[in-house]
Amino acid sequence: MLSKEDNQLITDTNSGTPMGELFRRFWLPVALSQELPGPDSIPLRLRIMSEDLVAFRDSDGRVGLVDKYCPHRGASLFFGRNEEGGLRCIYHGWKFDVTGNCIDVPNAPEGETYKNKVKIKSYPVVEAGDLIWAYMGPKDRQPPFPEFEWLNLPRSHRYVTKFQLECNWLQATEGDFDPSHARFLHSTMDNNQSNPGNALNQGAGAGGRVGVNQVNLAAPIDPSERYPRAVGNRRFKETDPTSASNMRLEDIDAAFFSIAASELPDGRKQAVAGLRWHMPMFCPPGVARPGHFSANMRVPVDNERLMFFRLRWSLNPMTDEDLQEYKLGGYTHPEMVPGTWRTKANVHNDYEIDRLAQKHFSYSGIKTFPLQDIAMMEDQWGPLADRRNEHLTSMDYQIIYLRRRLLRTAKALAQGVEPDEPWMSESYRYHTAQVVLDSGTLEDAIEQAKLKAKEPVVPSDLKVEAPKISA
Ligand code: FES
Ligand SMILES: [Fe+2]
Repeated sequence: MLSKEDNQLITDTNSGTPMGELFRRFWLPVALSQELPGPDSIPLRLRIMSEDLVAFRDSDGRVGLVDKYCPHRGASLFFGRNEEGGLRCIYHGWKFDVTGNCIDVPNAPEGETYKNKVKIKSYPVVEAGDLIWAYMGPKDRQPPFPEFEWLNLPRSHRYVTKFQLECNWLQATEGDFDPSHARFLHSTMDNNQSNPGNALNQGAGAGGRVGVNQVNLAAPIDPSERYPRAVGNRRFKETDPTSASNMRLEDIDAAFFSIAASELPDGRKQAVAGLRWHMPMFCPPGVARPGHFSANMRVPVDNERLMFFRLRWSLNPMTDEDLQEYKLGGYTHPEMVPGTWRTKANVHNDYEIDRLAQKHFSYSGIKTFPLQDIAMMEDQWGPLADRRNEHLTSMDYQIIYLRRRLLRTAKALAQGVEPDEPWMSESYRYHTAQVVLDSGTLEDAIEQAKLKAKEPVVPSDLKVEAPKISA
């Protein structure tokens, strides 16, 4: 549980709050590139970090992210004319460029000189990885761009989309640090045999990467149990690979990892350094197709909503089959209400829960993985959980760890101690790694796995140009 004060501190990302300022020390994804498809395309209305903004792509293709409201008399620039190198307010014709400079005040005789006195709020923008990123913090603290390896891949190797959730950023993010939920929420009633995604999800949840640290869910249900569906192979024991006693968490630069090691039957030592998180909210877990990596990025819209950027990437181009699954399959990316970023199954229709399916087939009765998670996340004592009500267990150790690091860093910042993480740009390429040593100790294997986790996985001949900060 958290105290009322700590819960308020860790969930409030408005400007001027400790967590709001911590988020604003980082480059954050704010929109998909495809939402601004070309020069002078329709402006995009954006609420992000509780700020109302407008993004637009000017005649030269540059992206601006500016205050939604015109500084003359406050009209919405969303309705603006995007033309000839800037966005023009349609109320009286004032015009702004991508850096927020007022470049025309045509409705007053003194406009030629007055325009130089007016500037609208604007944020530096980078377009990278099919996303538009913004830095919303103090100008003198603008960090280098994080070196996520997927940013340097050709577009053909990525699929990213977004959807909006109706809850605070933290309660959705904590779902990525919850190793005991998948065996219940995401499971089926036939011993999990018919749903390979369960094993995948456990693997991703435990080790951060599909194929690593998979948990065997095939143990038979014990018929002597009075309520076999509730227990059987689902019950967690001390020996479970994901339990706190078999996993330690460790900060490494801007990230933290889960570290696990074991001796194989032939005496060799195996260790996994599983990437769990990068400051402040970049998480790798999630179901992905074989050979694909995942990233979850949840950016606050305001304190009771978030935009979930969900990425899949691969060292090989996405096939038609991959894309069909990601776009239409509903398995990793939920079906949307057409023309919106809202999921079709949502809180207003009880996520289309099918009680018959729940009785006989799936544990939840809710159709797909992401929807199962969303249904649990969006209403945890409401959209902004009061964590004074919690009763955490040892299996919630990752959530506790995450909160402690965030609270420590945000409180330090409130005391004037700037975080180092924004400047550790190279550590954003760290990833999950596994090693098997023929000789040496378990600690030797762990050290090797940690070193391997820092090595690039994208071959240099696959890389395209690095992202550039444009404004
Ligand atoms: S309110 Fe925008 S030009 Fe007047
Ligand atoms: Fe989940």
